[in-house]
Amino acid sequence: MNWAPSSLKSEIALGDCAEVLQRFPDGCIDLIVTSPPYADQRNSTYGGIHPDKYVEWMLPRTEQMLRVLKDSGSFVLNIKEKAVDGQRHTYVLELILALKKQGWLWTEEYIWHKRNCYPGKWPNRFRDAWERCLHFTKARKFKMNQESVMVPMGDWAQSRLKSLGKNDVVRHDSQVGNAFAKNIANWQGRDKAFPTNVLHLATECGNKGHSAAFPQALPQWFIKLFTDPGDVVLDPFVGSGTTVEAALSLSRSVIGIDVLDEYVQMSREKLMPSQGVLLEKTAKYKVDRISKKVRNE
Ligand SMILES: C[S@@+](CC[C@H](N)C(=O)[O-])C[C@H]1O[C@@H](n2cnc3c(N)ncnc32)[C@H](O)[C@@H]1O
Repeated sequence: MNWAPSSLKSEIALGDCAEVLQRFPDGCIDLIVTSPPYADQRNSTYGGIHPDKYVEWMLPRTEQMLRVLKDSGSFVLNIKEKAVDGQRHTYVLELILALKKQGWLWTEEYIWHKRNCYPGKWPNRFRDAWERCLHFTKARKFKMNQESVMVPMGDWAQSRLKSLGKNDVVRHDSQVGNAFAKNIANWQGRDKAFPTNVLHLATECGNKGHSAAFPQALPQWFIKLFTDPGDVVLDPFVGSGTTVEAALSLSRSVIGIDVLDEYVQMSREKLMPSQGVLLEKTAKYKVDRISKKVRNE
């Protein structure tokens, strides 16, 4: 499959991603970025999975994701374990171990720091202000456009670099055997640096019509980092279509799947008519079309 940016084709399918993905050929997706249903947390809106059953529930779905992802691709899973009986449940930790056994490499863990988390008080912990963005790959070498997410060097360059001693900015091999100072000196005179693995983003659920939407900047950041224009992004738990918007804004093709018709409709509204997307009524027909498109038929 070779979609040029000018011929982006995007689709939203209705169904359980475990089944919908079976119609996709191997290795047709460049990036999977998603936030799955939380364990039991939102069962008033779209059903919940008991924390003790979470790994068992997720594995058949990630098995399909592993199959459809290209070898150069990435899978970013935004997830946070809930507290059960006053303790953090371990299902996310168990999921990481199970995914490794399934064949994924646990390459990195990014943190989404929620800059605007709600005030609150709990007897044994403070406000929860971060979620995991687990980064899995199929291979040690994968597509990563580090330059695309560089950040302004900011005040750090002025203050920290100025305070370097004369011996810091030239390499002194005799100094405690680390290359830290030399590495810092390399950044003198530059106005951009590579970011950290912490993303500071405000939550934005209120106006999205979905109780668990992530901010558009979250998938956007990973899409820039792990794909090129024209690549194909998949969100198998697409919800209100935040990933759809993010991918289209960056000229990537996008495939979204959700088990609830209400969210499928919401996500389809994010598809722009200018991209020639036809909205068919039946899920099966749509899924067949997606499979054909990804096979480039
Ligand atoms: C955490 S929400 C995703 C929110 C999304 N990131 C957004 O910004 O709106 C998880 C979504 O997964 C959907 N879902 C639950 N089980 C599913 C399944 N088996 N296959 C596909 N979608 C599913 C839910 O309906 C829900 O919309």
